[in-house]
Amino acid sequence: MTKRALVTGVTGQDGSYLTEFLLDKGYEVHGIIRRTTSFKNEWLDEIIDNQRYKDKPFFLHYGDMTDAQGLIRVMRKIKPTEVYNLGAQSHVRMSFDIPEYTGDVTGLGNLRLLDAILETGTETRFYQASSSEMFGKVQEIPQRETTPFYPRSPYACAKLFAYWSTVNYREAYHMHASNGILFNHESPRRGEAFVTRKITRALARILSGKQKELSLGNLDAKRDWGFAKDYVEAMWLMLQAPQPDDYVIATGETHSVKEFLTQAFELVGRDWEEYVKIDPNNFRRTEVDILIGDATKAREKLGWKPKCSFKELVYLMVREDLKREGLNPEKYMKGT
Ligand code: NAP
Ligand code: GDD
Repeated sequence: MTKRALVTGVTGQDGSYLTEFLLDKGYEVHGIIRRTTSFKNEWLDEIIDNQRYKDKPFFLHYGDMTDAQGLIRVMRKIKPTEVYNLGAQSHVRMSFDIPEYTGDVTGLGNLRLLDAILETGTETRFYQASSSEMFGKVQEIPQRETTPFYPRSPYACAKLFAYWSTVNYREAYHMHASNGILFNHESPRRGEAFVTRKITRALARILSGKQKELSLGNLDAKRDWGFAKDYVEAMWLMLQAPQPDDYVIATGETHSVKEFLTQAFELVGRDWEEYVKIDPNNFRRTEVDILIGDATKAREKLGWKPKCSFKELVYLMVREDLKREGLNPEKYMKGT
């Protein structure tokens, strides 16, 4: 039987890596894209232009997490065997500016998709992109599946609604629906407004003379940062498990924004303190001070563990942004 995956958020960091991962596994992949004014998406273009995926079955459909009828139509047309719900307004600080919209897309959007599965009677397995942000003001260190949630932003509240909707549909309708509680994961495809990519991109632009300084906020916040390619494999593993369940996916290490800065700037022999300016606009009203996850359950039940270290992650992000800026990494980076 053809394995047919439907991926929402296909233009994003995770959606694009997951698409490549599934195509390599022989899946037919269908992605939902929004009707926007720009037809270009860098990561989708990378897939479409890549010879490796040239003849692979990859299809795009218009849809939106705010449009229930559209989701039902896509579900009816594709009849996916696996659904990965990655579509979201995913920026935490922005969710304070657009809380209602965030709740609609990130929270209700998940419910609409679950309902579209029910409404169309589709026999499918379901993955919800839940988030470590739900732990917020952490009640336990490290955080695991049993740690109580304490959301600190409209984004985290929306994700909590989606998390519980997924659990509820699993219990009420016996759906194979799982939550991946993923801790921060980054890559050269990370959105430019997230702190890691903001740093590596700015560093490349500073070296090429296009940027003089880098405006940041709270440098003391600590995150459990992994590599996105490792994390999309965990999503897939959850849907191959005989029983649906909820899993923490994390590296088990935590690092501050300051450590990320130091690591990145040291790679090119620069001192970040000469460039970074603190701007209050980059702070959150309620911050998540520290995240560190315990992924023991995923290791034991799914056989998943992260492969890329923090140092390797910073290295590959800096290297890729230098290349995009037209700079030769061998010339600028130590140890290449
Ligand atoms: P991302 O790069 O910001 O991608 C978000 C995706 O959602 C984009 O494809 C975006 O499409 C799409 N989207 C936004 N609004 C939509 C709408 N109204 N209807 C349909 N699609 C919409 O996010 P990511 O880092 O890949 O994360 C993927 C998912 O995992 C998200 O749900 C995120 O909240 C969650 N998550 C991420 C992390 C992490 O560290 N990366 C950790 C835990 C959970 P456009 O291109 O059209 O904007
Ligand atoms: N974005 C941003 N910009 N963050 C900054 C800045 C800045 O200029 N300066 C400091 N930070 C701090 C934030 O205050 C936060 O504590 C930390 O850097 C990480 O911020 P982000 O990279 O924006 O990620 P996030 O942790 O808020 O959210 C990401 O991870 C979640 C999983 O825990 C997003 O990908 C969410 O969608 C995801 O659920």
